[in-house]
Amino acid sequence: MTDSHHPPVGIDALALACPKAFIAMDTLAEARGVPSAKYTQGLGQEKMAIASPVEDTVTLATAAARRALETFDVDPQSIGTLIVGTETGVDHSKPVAVYVHELLGLPERCRTFETKHACYGASAGLTTSLDWIASGRARGQKALVIAADIASYGLNTPGEPTQGAGAVAMVIGEHPRLLRIHPNTIGDYTRQVMDFWRPLYSKYALADGHYSIECYLEALAGARAAALDGGDEVFDELLACLYHVPFVKMAHKAHRKELECVHHRPFDLDTADDQARFDASYQRLVAPWLSLNAQVGNIYTGSLYLALMDLIRQSQASWADRRVSLFSYGSGCGATYMLGQIAPSAHQWAGHCDPQADLDQRRRLSVGEYEAMIAAVERAERAEKLDPSDWGVLEGLAYVGTQDHQRQYRWLGRDALTPAV
Ligand code: CAA
Repeated sequence: MTDSHHPPVGIDALALACPKAFIAMDTLAEARGVPSAKYTQGLGQEKMAIASPVEDTVTLATAAARRALETFDVDPQSIGTLIVGTETGVDHSKPVAVYVHELLGLPERCRTFETKHACYGASAGLTTSLDWIASGRARGQKALVIAADIASYGLNTPGEPTQGAGAVAMVIGEHPRLLRIHPNTIGDYTRQVMDFWRPLYSKYALADGHYSIECYLEALAGARAAALDGGDEVFDELLACLYHVPFVKMAHKAHRKELECVHHRPFDLDTADDQARFDASYQRLVAPWLSLNAQVGNIYTGSLYLALMDLIRQSQASWADRRVSLFSYGSGCGATYMLGQIAPSAHQWAGHCDPQADLDQRRRLSVGEYEAMIAAVERAERAEKLDPSDWGVLEGLAYVGTQDHQRQYRWLGRDALTPAV
């Protein structure tokens, strides 16, 4: 899969930032009068991260990026492209990326923009960055691609149990330490469908939920065909299949579709034979990397890369050069299927990619606190002054209100002493 004329290109650093509070799915189910098994088994979720009024796409994106640069010791001056993929930006005109650029003290000699295509924005940023490097235009510089979103469907909607919030930052460069991606294994897919959208006047997404699942699965088949061009034999070599995970059970549906594509026939999970074959494949290739998604919920464009983090945090020396598939889906719709290859050094960085300690420290919300938080988020855009300590946010970067129509951010606690990386 490597091309002897070009150095390998791919993901060199990876980090997650997540809000400091969550709601447990069984708590939400009880309040909505739904059996908790519907959310925990039917959708496969354990918890959903909930953003407070002082945590927005800028704070999450900046925190993830700062952690990626610091943890992997990447010189901020080496960043020549900065892309934030999001469908929950903070301004109709100004990109989240330019706030991040300033807050991290990145060099002026840098291309900076935001990409939007529902849950697909960051993948567009990733492949654009790979092309930028492969074309030679990067001249040794690296790209910083951040997938950041706050998934909001509104209270008492079918989408409510598929919310979440967070950002995954990735540094893209030559000779990557984590995952190589070769351009000739990338396949794209686009079709105009109204499966999920968010009008300019709405903070909450609208979705034709069951139709969106159909569109996702059709896009998987389409992008996969474009990537592999009939080369299905690669499936037998895969170490992992990573999918866009709006809720964990979606990866289950996706893998069934993948097997149907591989075997060119429907998989009937009501028959013992197909069920056994499917289960074995799912347990080996998909299930082990879904724990972070189950704990964080839907982070829209970062969901696929959260599954990738889960894989990398478990990586072992024997995985060097093993292949993985990655499928990114954005409603509307756009999709990409690609193959990656575990870098030989990935296992040395496994511990650096593990956000579990942070996730375990989050504050558990009651339903009353969760609903109050959603109501406060609605008012936050026009609030002049917000106090982060009201929301238990004492460190890191906080959104502290809007003055003269301009959003204000402040580093807190020990981060206030050393704001830039
Ligand atoms: N015990 C166990 N399981 C139960 C159960 C119980 N008591 N009750 C129901 N279930 C199961 C159902 O059988 C179903 O599982 P299967 O799909 O495997 O059959 C599952 O729980 C969900 O039940 P329903 O389909 O009845 O749930 P719903 O109609 O309330 O809606 C949903 C589910 C469509 C996903 C909805 O949450 C939604 O609209 N979500 C937002 C849209 C979305 O996430 N789409 C995904 C594809 S689009 C995309 O990926 C882009 C993106 O990020 C938005």
